[in-house]
Parts: sequence; C-alpha cells; structure tokens
Amino acid sequence: MDLFEYQARDLFEKHGVPVLQGIIADTPEEARAAAESIGGVTVVKAQVKVGGRGKAGGVKVAKTADDAEAAARDILGLDIKGHVVKRVMVAQGADITEEYYFSVLLDRANRNYLALCSYEGGMEIEQLAEERPEALARVAVDPAVGITLEKAREIAVAAKFPAELVDKVAPVFVALYGVYVAEDATLVEVNPLVLTGAGDIVALDGKVSLDENAGFRQPGHEALEDKDAADPLEAKAKQHDLNYVKLDGEVGVIGNGAGLVMSTLDVVAYAGENHGGVKPANFLDIGGGASAEVMAAGLDVILGDPQVKSVFVNVFGGITSCVAVANGIVAALEMLGDAATKPLVVRLDGNQVDEGRAILAAAAHPLVTLATTMDDGADKAAALAAK
Ligand SMILES: Nc1ncnc2c1ncn2[C@@H]1O[C@H](COP(=O)(O)OP(=O)(O)OP(=O)(O)O)[C@@H](O)[C@H]1O
Ligand SMILES: [Mg+2]
Repeated sequence: MDLFEYQARDLFEKHGVPVLQGIIADTPEEARAAAESIGGVTVVKAQVKVGGRGKAGGVKVAKTADDAEAAARDILGLDIKGHVVKRVMVAQGADITEEYYFSVLLDRANRNYLALCSYEGGMEIEQLAEERPEALARVAVDPAVGITLEKAREIAVAAKFPAELVDKVAPVFVALYGVYVAEDATLVEVNPLVLTGAGDIVALDGKVSLDENAGFRQPGHEALEDKDAADPLEAKAKQHDLNYVKLDGEVGVIGNGAGLVMSTLDVVAYAGENHGGVKPANFLDIGGGASAEVMAAGLDVILGDPQVKSVFVNVFGGITSCVAVANGIVAALEMLGDAATKPLVVRLDGNQVDEGRAILAAAAHPLVTLATTMDDGADKAAALAAK
C-alpha cells in the first residue's frame, strides 16, 4: 500500500525524522486557515499517489494566506496523470540550500535491503540513475544489522557527501531506517532531503509503501487506506477475507487454492477464444474451507460485477470434501435468493466427488450446470457468457 505524502510525513515525525509542519486541507478555505496557523511562507502541495507533482503544477509556494487559498483553489480538482487532487497539504516553507536523495527499499532480487543515496538532488531519480549512475550510491543493507550510525556514514560517504555533512545526514538515515523497520515498509524514500539555510537537514517530501502482509501486526495501518480509491468489489471481498482480484472479462471464476484458480483463468481465456473472445472476469480463491458462508460471500462479490455474464466454480475437494462444497453451493444459492441471477457452471473433483455431484443434481437449481472436467466447465461457462 502506497501512502500519501502527508501520511509519510506523519510517520516520519513519529519516528524522529526531521520534518516541517504540514496541515492537510480539502478546501481553499481550509488551506487559508492552515497557512494562517503555520505563518510565513508556505507551500501548497497536491496529495496524489503519483510522482512529478511539481512539474504538473501541483506544488505552489504561497507568500501569504491569501496566496495559499488561491493556490489550493488552483490545485484542488487538478488532474495529475489521471489522479484528481482531492486534498492538499499546506507545508511550512523551507529555506533550501541544497537538495539530496535517500531511499531504503526491499531488494527482492538479492533477498536483501538496499539503500540508494545521492548528494545531487533536484533531479528526478530515474533520470539521475540513467544519466549519471555514478552519482547515485547503491549500498546493500543487511536486514540482520540494519542501518546503524556506522552504516549510515558509509552510505553518506558512498553518496559523496562532504565530510562536514556526513555526521549531519547519518542520524537522519538511521531514523528513516527506523520508519522502514518499525512500520513494515517496503520503501521509504525522501526526495528531496534538504539542507536549510540554518544548517538543518529536513525531509521535505516522503514516499512510503507499506507491506500489507504485515497488516496483522500493524493495527494502525488500516486507517491509512484510501477507502475512496479502492474498487468496491475488492473492498467487499476484503471484508470477507477473500483473495479477489478484478479483471476485465465476462466469466466469473471461483476456485479453491491459488494455483487452481490461476490455471482456471488460463483455461477460461483459452476456451473463450472459441466463444467470441470472452475472458475471465476475476481471480477469486476461496481457500480450503468452502463453507456455505464463504461460497455465498464469493458468489455475492462476483455477481455484483455488472460485467460478469456467467460464473465458473472450479473446486478440487481435498481436505474439504466435495459434499461440503456442494452443500455450500446449494446453501449459498438459497442465501442469495433473487440476487443470484447469472448461470453457474460447477466442476467438482476429488474427495467424495460422486456424492457431491449427486447433491447438486438432486438440488436441480435452474441456474446450475454441472461439468465433468475443467476444460468442459470452462467451455460451458464461456459459451454462456457469450450468449
Ligand atoms: N516545504 C517546502 N518548502 C520549500 N520548497 C519546497 C517545499 N516542498 C517542496 N519544495 C520544493 O518543490 C520541489 C518539488 O516538491 P516535491 O518533491 O514535494 O514534489 P515533486 O517532486 O514534484 O513530487 P514527487 O516527489 O511526487 O515527484 C522540491 O524539490 C523543493 O524544491
Ligand atoms: Mg519529490
């Protein structure tokens, strides 16, 4: 989960990274009040989860509260690379002498952490990495050791900071690493980290990505989610602890086990080629225990997608027998009642398959078609979707 700049700023503050005052505003009037409360020069900054805000007119310096209100009026509603600005942050203006770059991130390929740092800021980091790679230090960070003060100095030296600045920036790197670890982040980036006229090091703009897999031990992170931006179906699936990803086809897919669902998507896409090019509408793994409640929740999510024309339920009974799954489907359809409107193709195999199929055959639900194999099921579901 990527955070907004103001959320990153708050986390920085919490973990002792030097930041300036920042107040969020959703209206020009709120921006004026924020600027009045901060006093002096402020900078009004669009809060969108996309880079290059400055160049797109999303960062404006305001000398007075009037200016801040006017700047917020310009910025709110602005479309920055497809992201409409709904909120700005009014930040205290910094007296910038120099700009630097620092980030720490998860280096998946090397199964390690990596710190990136440059004494030369002010340029987009992608551009710097490409045009002047020697100016961007890449220092591997052992997760078992982390960024100690000694390591932080090593990073600063590698980034070509002059000796008198190394001791100033090193503690800030340590604090930023503190954010990375304590918050279970996969990225903590500061661009720019600045040296002010008064000689202080301050993080002016932060980007943080949090590891959602750590959500169970980060109770505070749920509140950081941008609920407005989430797909409503994905949000509903999340409420039920379902692994759901919306795709853009017409055949809804439910299966148990990520591997089976992935291959079901392939088989449906392949079968769809013979039926006008219909495609899978989603990924949905209901996991091991296909109880009636879980099945009903899964069907409810999929049937809520207006693009879905048919549903393919592909379940392999293992520890959960096909009897339980068949009963789950029958009960789910009862629970959903009139909300179930689209044809369902069901393929069961594995543990107690004959008994499971018998249950579905006996229920003889008008929407349900039984399939014997995965290919057969995918073909039937694709044909129904193409009708
Ligand atoms: N509080 C501030 N005081 C003074 N100048 C600022 C302040 N915040 C930002 N700036 C100036 O504006 C520039 C751009 O700001 P910032 O880095 O926040 O946005 P951006 O780089 O355009 O956005 P992104 O990092 O999302 O690409 C900074 O490099 C800095 O020179
Ligand atoms: Mg920036």
